[in-house]
Amino acid sequence: MEIFVVPDAAGTGAVAAGILAAVIRSKPDAVLGVATGSSPIPVYEALAEHRLDLSRVRAFALDEYVGLPAGHPQSYAEVVRREVTERLGLDPALVSVPAGGADDPHRAADLYDAAIRAGGGVDVQILGIGHNGHIAFNEPGSELDSRTRVEVLAERTRQANARYFRSVGDVPTKCITQGLGTILEARQLLMVVNGADKAEVLAAALNGPVSPGCPGSVLQLHPHVTVVADEAAAMQLDGREGQVAVRVAAPCA
Ligand code: F6R
Repeated sequence: MEIFVVPDAAGTGAVAAGILAAVIRSKPDAVLGVATGSSPIPVYEALAEHRLDLSRVRAFALDEYVGLPAGHPQSYAEVVRREVTERLGLDPALVSVPAGGADDPHRAADLYDAAIRAGGGVDVQILGIGHNGHIAFNEPGSELDSRTRVEVLAERTRQANARYFRSVGDVPTKCITQGLGTILEARQLLMVVNGADKAEVLAAALNGPVSPGCPGSVLQLHPHVTVVADEAAAMQLDGREGQVAVRVAAPCA
């Protein structure tokens, strides 16, 4: 595992975008796994500045709410369209988001999992982490080998995401999320974490035991993980013991 610690969120974006740009330069039709939420926004902003031709890049989103009307501005289909597809100039036909509005979301989840495999798998999966340790919407208690499925959102997750809605009551209660087993099949995991409020959970995920109680701890099971954190989020990391090697990133060109 490689950990880059940078001064601030903009720095996390620059370093993570540099990693993505290198992958895309060597594989112009790379498959990106894209996260939503606030953490990866600086990454997409910085990647756009690389001005690469991303028209052949394919992308799979991590998750989607169940039950939001089509076109809802906070559906991840819309967030991914605004923040990823349009910002980076991806071909919308090559970008997939789980079908949260499907009549049968369970079947939609199975089809999504199969589509990722059929597409050859994800080259680099971008991840954030929730305060309760969730990655994608795999809430605590998720099986380490879980597949894409319908999941009930934890109350803490709904509270955290209420900032995007009028009130917490408007945040959907269910989602379709890639499973932990699905995520672990990506060839590289790239986690981006910002802010002192994530320091405790990041340390638990990287230095604590691997356990369904902290879904982010599955990163320890993957052979190719890069974590890019700002100083505040990295504050509680133990760089002296275990498998974690903390590197201070050089400024990114
Ligand atoms: C979003 C996702 C979530 C977020 C997590 C952190 O697609 O899968 O796991 O990464 O909730 O969200 P932020 O970055 O907003 O703190």
